[in-house]
Amino acid sequence: MPEKAPPLRVLLVDNHEVVRSGVKALLQATEDVLVSAEAGSGREAIDEADRARPDVVVMDVRLGGRSWGHSACIREDRWPWRRGASRRENRCGTWNRRRCEMKFVVVYESMFGNTEAVAQAIAAGLREAGEVKLGTVDALSPEEVRNAALLVAGGPTHAHGMARRNAHEAIAGERSYRPYGAVQPGHESLRGWIERLTVAPAKAAVFDTRFNKPMLITGSAAKKIAARLERKGYSVIEARSFFVETTGGPLAEGESDRALEWGRELGARARSAIAA
Ligand SMILES: Cc1cc2nc3c(=O)[nH]c(=O)nc-3n(C[C@H](O)[C@H](O)[C@H](O)COP(=O)(O)O)c2cc1C
Repeated sequence: MPEKAPPLRVLLVDNHEVVRSGVKALLQATEDVLVSAEAGSGREAIDEADRARPDVVVMDVRLGGRSWGHSACIREDRWPWRRGASRRENRCGTWNRRRCEMKFVVVYESMFGNTEAVAQAIAAGLREAGEVKLGTVDALSPEEVRNAALLVAGGPTHAHGMARRNAHEAIAGERSYRPYGAVQPGHESLRGWIERLTVAPAKAAVFDTRFNKPMLITGSAAKKIAARLERKGYSVIEARSFFVETTGGPLAEGESDRALEWGRELGARARSAIAA
């Protein structure tokens, strides 16, 4: 008779005791699972993981109001005993690594490529902290935001606010914009993309491109993006503007570097939120 495998030892993390006891009862309904440790916060989870050495961690993504997604992520390198594990345990290891890899989503719309260049620089900065999904509102599904530590959304400032829904088509067809070069292809708008967001509340940072004049004169798409995301339940941690020389660009000197640096800062903030 093959030897019966020992139960999967689980560390259960949730800041509500009542939720923990419900999930525990569900998990332990099978004899293959044993809840061997519990924790009520990210810090406690790390200590408990070190002490109890579970096979797997089942954790609420929002602990005590924090919404950095993997706020109490326990890194596999803290658990040397996990290396060289059995086949079943290896699957758990992979799961842990996936959960621990912080994910960022950078979504943008851009007519002449300037907002795109800013988005690319922000993404390069964020990549130092984790995985980045970068794309236009046409290319990225709002579903990508699921499990992301941070959504970064940006667009060009048009008429003091966000670009209209049919902006690509309208601007491409407008003679007066021809000197600024070809308009990038696009159909969806950031307005529409945000409307399609169904994902639970999380953190976001927003940006725009605009002229380098007082905001009272130029307006700011970022402010409007922030307002729309907040209506969707997002907590907007910061809004930034990056400046263009003319309607068609280029970006003003130093703006790409500033965007890269901002991406790094956002990534570092997300990392330290995990460590806290
Ligand atoms: C229709 C239209 C309206 C604009 N209105 C504003 C404005 O109100 N304030 C401003 O600072 N820039 C305005 N601009 C300049 C844009 O901010 C600039 O074209 C944009 O930052 C370039 O980014 P993109 O290449 O990603 O489209 C406008 C541009 C267009 C095409």
